[in-house]
Amino acid sequence: MTKTVLVTGGAGYIGSHVVRQLGDAGAHVIVLDNLCTGFADAVLSGELIRGDCGDSELLDQIFGRFDIESVLHFAAHTIVPESVADPLKYYANNTCKTRNLLQVCAKHSVNNFVFSSTAAVYGIPDSDVAISEAAPTSPINPYGLSKLMSEWMLRDLAATTGLRHVTLRYFNVAGSDPQGRIGQSTAKATLLTKVACEAAIGLRDRVAIFGTDYPTPDGTGVRDYIHVEDLADAHLLALAYLRDNGPSITLNCGYGHGYSVRAVLEAVEKAAGKPLNIVEEARRAGDPPSLVADAQKLRSLFAWEPRYDDLDAIVSTSLAWEQKLADRR
Ligand code: UD1
Repeated sequence: MTKTVLVTGGAGYIGSHVVRQLGDAGAHVIVLDNLCTGFADAVLSGELIRGDCGDSELLDQIFGRFDIESVLHFAAHTIVPESVADPLKYYANNTCKTRNLLQVCAKHSVNNFVFSSTAAVYGIPDSDVAISEAAPTSPINPYGLSKLMSEWMLRDLAATTGLRHVTLRYFNVAGSDPQGRIGQSTAKATLLTKVACEAAIGLRDRVAIFGTDYPTPDGTGVRDYIHVEDLADAHLLALAYLRDNGPSITLNCGYGHGYSVRAVLEAVEKAAGKPLNIVEEARRAGDPPSLVADAQKLRSLFAWEPRYDDLDAIVSTSLAWEQKLADRR
């Protein structure tokens, strides 16, 4: 049987970019996605199986039918405000189903596991210096907690079984496939880059800046925006690392420098060639002033070299994708 990589959530935003890269690298890929937020036409490589990580019977069938050597686990709900409004939805989908998937991996002795985690596990950092993986974890919303609990399961399993994991803590993911084939299509997105691009093409009449009185250079929130293609590269490197018997590790994924909300909006205006209707509002509850990754470990351990560490490149690919989505509608 051909060695196969199982990608859960491979029809979603980040997963679909990784699946595309895996296909380009010649991997045999099975995507498991229930399509609740993903899109079948975003799967550009391998075979899509419509189903759920909570379905043990289906997982058993998949692990029996294919020679799964590694699992990349993206499937999750990711909208922070929604997680606050409906925490059990997040614990059920993100935590309980991860547990289920891990149980099936253990049963079939699949030991290479790449997990999508998030900077939300850090909560509100004590200082605005770049945050390392050793910083305390203290999520302030159910989304971050649902992911941190999965990190704990991985840690505990790795301590006592043959499972090895690479846990990637994503900072603010943005941008899209430079060839315009796939991108961020999630409905109800609250992400700044997505909201600003929707406004730039006329789908929203305004963009709000949530807070202009932060202790940051221009008073607005600072984030470490990472292009989805560079993040996808990190996943392929993680897979190679596990295949090489690398020990379990947790790594931040960001560039190590941040941009303010105003800087992002200016970049969107530049890419769109027209001004946005920007309004200033109060701070959004639970937003840290600044969240920037110390991602030295990712660079040194994996020799990861970002290709799109440039705000204009990030924003222009996001905008091009948003326009394409609108044209399709
Ligand atoms: C959060 C999560 C992240 C998750 C993402 C998507 C944390 C620490 N991070 O990122 O893991 O993947 O949500 O749900 O919880 N902003 C505006 N106006 C807007 C939207 C946002 O000013 O309309 C500001 C925010 O205040 C923030 C920055 O833009 O300063 C980025 O916000 P956003 O894109 O929503 O991502 P995070 O909240 O940083």
